[in-house]
Formats: sequence, C-alpha cells, structure tokens
Amino acid sequence: LFRSDIPEGLQRLPGPKPLPIIGNVLEVGANPHLSLTAMSEQYGHVYQIQIGTRPVVVLSGTETVRQALIKQGEEFASRPDLYSFQFINDGKSLAFSSDQAGVWRARRKLAMNALRSFSTLEGNDAGYSCILEEHVSKEGVCLVERLGAVMEASGSFDPFRHIVVSVANVICGMCFGKRYSHDDQELVNLVNMSDEFGQVTGSGNPADFIPFLRFLPSRTMKAFMDINARFNAFVQKIVREHYSSYDKNNIRDITDSLIDHCEDRKLDENSNVQISDDKIVGIVNDLFGAGFDTISTGLSWAVVYLVAYPEIQEKLHQEMKNVVGMERTPRLSDKPDLPYLEAFILEIFRHSSFVPFTIPHCTTKDTALNGFFIPKNTCVFINQWQVNHDSATWKNPSSFSPERFLNADGTSINKTDAEKVMLFGMGKRRCIGEAIGRTEFFLFMAILVQRLRFHELPGQPLDMTPEYGLTMKHKRCQLGATLWAQEEA
Ligand code: HEM
Repeated sequence: LFRSDIPEGLQRLPGPKPLPIIGNVLEVGANPHLSLTAMSEQYGHVYQIQIGTRPVVVLSGTETVRQALIKQGEEFASRPDLYSFQFINDGKSLAFSSDQAGVWRARRKLAMNALRSFSTLEGNDAGYSCILEEHVSKEGVCLVERLGAVMEASGSFDPFRHIVVSVANVICGMCFGKRYSHDDQELVNLVNMSDEFGQVTGSGNPADFIPFLRFLPSRTMKAFMDINARFNAFVQKIVREHYSSYDKNNIRDITDSLIDHCEDRKLDENSNVQISDDKIVGIVNDLFGAGFDTISTGLSWAVVYLVAYPEIQEKLHQEMKNVVGMERTPRLSDKPDLPYLEAFILEIFRHSSFVPFTIPHCTTKDTALNGFFIPKNTCVFINQWQVNHDSATWKNPSSFSPERFLNADGTSINKTDAEKVMLFGMGKRRCIGEAIGRTEFFLFMAILVQRLRFHELPGQPLDMTPEYGLTMKHKRCQLGATLWAQEEA
C-alpha cells in the first residue's frame, strides 16, 4: 500500500520488511505459532507480514482478537480463497470455502440445527441424558477394552490410532447412524491419515500464497489431495445409500435430515436462499471431518500429558475414585463434582493449543483495527497460541499446571480464567461443534482416568514437540497402560 491509499487518521500496518517474491516466508518458518508470537512482541497485536506477494494481517492479544471477531465481526467474517481450500469437500466446504455471506449463513444455521437435534436427542437407553452421552459412554468403554486387548497382545499401543476410531464412531453415529469396528480397514485407514490434511491447511502454508510452489513435486500436497478424494468418496457412498433408503417419516440421522431439508425446500416455492442440494447434503462432510480430527488430536495429547505428568494422573484418578467410585461409568452429570478433571482439560487446551490458529479469515470491506487500516479482501490469521501463552494474561505460561484454573478452595473452577482460553475461535465463525467437543472431551477423559493408568515404555522417552498444522499433533508414539483396578487390588 502506498501511504496515499491510507485514509486520513489511520496508520499503516507495522511488520517485517518482505523479500521480493517470497515475502516473509523465511521468518515465518516451520512453526508459525512461535514465529508469529515472537513478532507480536516486536510489532504489536495487529501487524502485517507478506507470504509470497500476498499481505496477511496477524492478530494477537485477547482484546484485539475480541474487537475484530466480535465487535467488528461482520468485517472479519469471510474466508480467503486459498489454493488448498478448493480441494476440500470439492470446493464446497462450509468451513473453508469463500461462499457468499448469505449462503454461508444459511448453511451454518442448517449445520447447527442438525448438530443440536442429533446430539440432544433422547438416547435409546434411559440411563443416559442424551444420545451424545450414550454414544461417548459406549465408545469410551469400548476404547478401554480395546487398549487392554492391544496391551495384552503386543505390550504397547499408539494412542492416536485407537482414540481416533472411537471419536470417529461418535460423529459417525450422529451423521450416518452407524459405527465401525476398530478392525474396519476402510475407516481405520481413512481416519488415520489426517496428518497431511492439517499440514496443508495450517495457517501460513507457502503453497497457498506462492503460485510457482504448486508446480514443484510435493509429497505432502499429493497426500492432501489423495485424502480429500478418499474422504469425499467415503462420505458420498454413505450419502447415496441414505438417498436410496430415505423415508420422510423416519429421519434416522443428520444425513437424512439434510436430505429432508432439500425435499422440503423443493415444495416451498417461496424459498429465497438458492443453495444446491450438493451444498446442503455436503454439510455432513464438514461435520464428519471437523468432528473427528480435532477431538481425537486433543484426547491423544491428553493421554501423552498424563504420561508426562504421572502425579497429575494420580490426582485425577483419586478425584474420580472419591467422587464416582470404580463401580459405575462416569456421567455428564458428574462434571460439576470433578473440578480437577475440568481444570486439567482447560490446561490441555491452553498449554498444547492444538488448534494454534483459527481457520484463516478475510475482511469483507475496508476496515480499521486499533487505528491501523486494513483493506477489503485481506487474509487474516488469528493466533490462538499467542492468546493462550500471553504473559500479560497467564503466570508462567509455559508451565503445565491445571491448578491455575482452580479457585483458592480447590473445589471449583475460576470461570473468568477458563473463558480466557481460546481454542474454538470466537464471534461469527466460532466453532459450531464446541459444545459437542467439550462434552466428548470430558466424558472420554473421565472414563480413561477412571480405568487406565498410562505410562511410558522403557527406552522410549516422550517427545512432546508438536508438529505444526491446522491441528498440531504429537509425534506418533508407543505407550503402555494398566488397569487401575488391577494395580489397586
Ligand atoms: C470451526 C476448533 C470440534 C465443526 C472451528 C474453528 C476452530 C475450531 C478453531 C475455526 C474458527 C474460526 O475460523 O474462527 C475446534 C476444536 C474442537 C472442534 C478445538 C474440539 C475440541 C468440532 C466438532 C464439530 C466442529 C465436534 C462438528 C461436529 C466445525 C465447523 C467449523 C468449525 C463446521 C466451521 C465454522 C464456520 O466456518 O462457520 N472449530 N472444533 N468442530 N468447527 Fe470446530
């Protein structure tokens, strides 16, 4: 921008000087959550970098992020048209595509309604408060059995490999009305290859911004396209089966309810939002994808932290034993009585910040933030990792301490601090699966800490360095586990 293009009274964005062609790619490097946090200390909470020749505004600091995403929400609500996004869900993704505002809003509303109805439905079994609790509870118990069996057969297990199948089964239950065996190779292979998806869609992937990089051979990019193609084929097959067995009087799951919406709309001559059937039923693709990768990545981290902090693991188990006991499975209604578990989960969200940036945003018109001018169509990165590690908010941000979220009496959560953790975005694009995500996280963790004690394997020290991406994963590893019941007998 030339200085003359900046409206009177506003300032030009600060930021590092870009190199020709590549911009600031070298300074951003392989860990943008760290490099962009360091830059925020130098340039402030609103600054500009350049990736290739494209300017990108980076936002940090709770107040600045809140100002942009909530108070000026409309102006920051869009998505940029990044190269990789066109391969996700055939370019028709609710989360990643740059749909017109009206289309995106209508699809988001449909998705939220579908999720709400199919998670809060009454369960088949009166013992559960809702179908979501029933799914998670059954999958959690199954996961414990599965890990036990794998331990017996091979003496160790890869936590992500098994957790992801259990979590995928919960969302499959709501979206498709079915669950898969832990031995179903099609599902197991599909859900175990999300690493490259996250690597390509993470904020700051140079190929999204520098066109010539797309023509260089890239194993990651090839794997990314392959994952998207396989993922779409998997969902499309299930959708076709749903169309052929669809019965208006028996809506079985989210896919049926979206098909039903298309049918109803055809009858409604006054319908004013023009969205194709593909874009409506395709919502299930987003829900399934977002619904398994995020939660399983976080749960797998939680198991790794339990291993890294055995005294915290012991404390969590003792709280569970005192409050719930060992005779019955923990329930959602136990949550208020398990503050240490809640504090542990909040600290996992904060410390690991396994979704380090939101999905990139884009401005819908010329705007200003903290006195700086930001033109229309500017790509915006929101640094959640910085918000969660800001020393202005957190004491010793790099130390892992669930206690930081407990009130002085140790029996309740400090709600003000809990709300400062940012992992689901905020404002108009805030995650629509947040309530489901938090519920699943709590219940899976409750079942795991009640029954299993996780441990390191001799000669295999933990490596907790995250691998950067849309969701940051820990390196695949082998762990051990024993039943607490056996240890305590
Ligand atoms: C968007 C985090 C679980 C569906 C997002 C965003 C984040 C996020 C950071 C981007 C917000 C933005 O761009 O500003 C998480 C985390 C989860 C989780 C940490 C679990 C621990 C889920 C689940 C579902 C889901 C279970 C669905 C079943 C979505 C969708 C969007 C989204 C559809 C796109 C919203 C839009 O663009 O309007 N999530 N999510 N998420 N999430 Fe989640």
